[in-house]
Amino acid sequence: MTTQSLKNKKIVISAGASGIGWAITKVCISRGAQVFLCDINQKLINKINKNIKYKNKIFAYECDASNEYEVIDFFSKILKKTKKIDSLINNIGIAGPTGTLDKLDSQEWEKTIQVNVISHFYFTKQAIPMIKKNKSGTIINLSSGAGIMGFPLRSPYAASKWAIVGLTKTLAMELGKFKIRVNAICPGTIKGDRMKRVVRDKAKFLKTSQRLIEKEFISMASMNGWIYEEDIGKMCAFLISEDSERISGQIIGVDGNATRLD
Ligand SMILES: NC(=O)c1ccc[n+]([C@@H]2O[C@H](COP(=O)([O-])OP(=O)(O)OC[C@H]3O[C@@H](n4cnc5c(N)ncnc54)[C@H](O)[C@@H]3O)[C@@H](O)[C@H]2O)c1
Repeated sequence: MTTQSLKNKKIVISAGASGIGWAITKVCISRGAQVFLCDINQKLINKINKNIKYKNKIFAYECDASNEYEVIDFFSKILKKTKKIDSLINNIGIAGPTGTLDKLDSQEWEKTIQVNVISHFYFTKQAIPMIKKNKSGTIINLSSGAGIMGFPLRSPYAASKWAIVGLTKTLAMELGKFKIRVNAICPGTIKGDRMKRVVRDKAKFLKTSQRLIEKEFISMASMNGWIYEEDIGKMCAFLISEDSERISGQIIGVDGNATRLD
């Protein structure tokens, strides 16, 4: 089977300087795309821009995804390089606080919704005219297993990820006539820094060992193993490519068949 090329595709990604977003970026450039990414981490942005390997392949900008003015500014910088784009990947999403709802702080609840849901609105609003100009394209939203199942101790995260599912279904209906496809990816338990923090916080809240929590997370998928950041990159590449040209409005698990999340 040949790998679908993303040659000359122009892709915008939020929170792309590390973790899943960086893995998506690397898969996309390896298939010929140009990536415009933003991230709140200035050090990582500088490191990417200084690396000669990524010259003309990755354009990285500092931006707080939850601040609409900064998102508008990010797009004004992209517009200086290209008037149209093929894809937007709404990757931004924080883990939010851990605990039963009655113990959670309202500011942390609000912040989780602000970053995980309202940021997607800011990016999508700016990207739609640029994808329409392209005459076709794709939007990919990062939801989660917590966007299709309940997730005890992580109520604001689950609420935010279910919201992304509603947003995806609605946008797919609004944008289909413009040949813009909109899908959501629900990653499972990803091997990486985020899950280390999630495991640590859950173990602390439940006063148990991190090893036990980690083992439990892995056992929630029938394939009984970690998912890797690159797996999400490969799914994005498929959803951006012509191989998926009639796939829209779908909520796609890349999770080794996660059957529970508790
Ligand atoms: N890691 C997992 O196990 C997992 C599982 C399911 C879904 N997801 C979802 O996948 C997406 C990516 O997750 P991840 O684990 O790579 O995240 P992460 O926590 O590793 O963070 C990735 C990047 O986000 C940046 N960032 C944080 N706040 C920002 C802000 N306000 N503005 C701009 N950038 C900001 C960070 O600097 C970092 O570079 C998220 O939407 C997440 O909810 C992750």
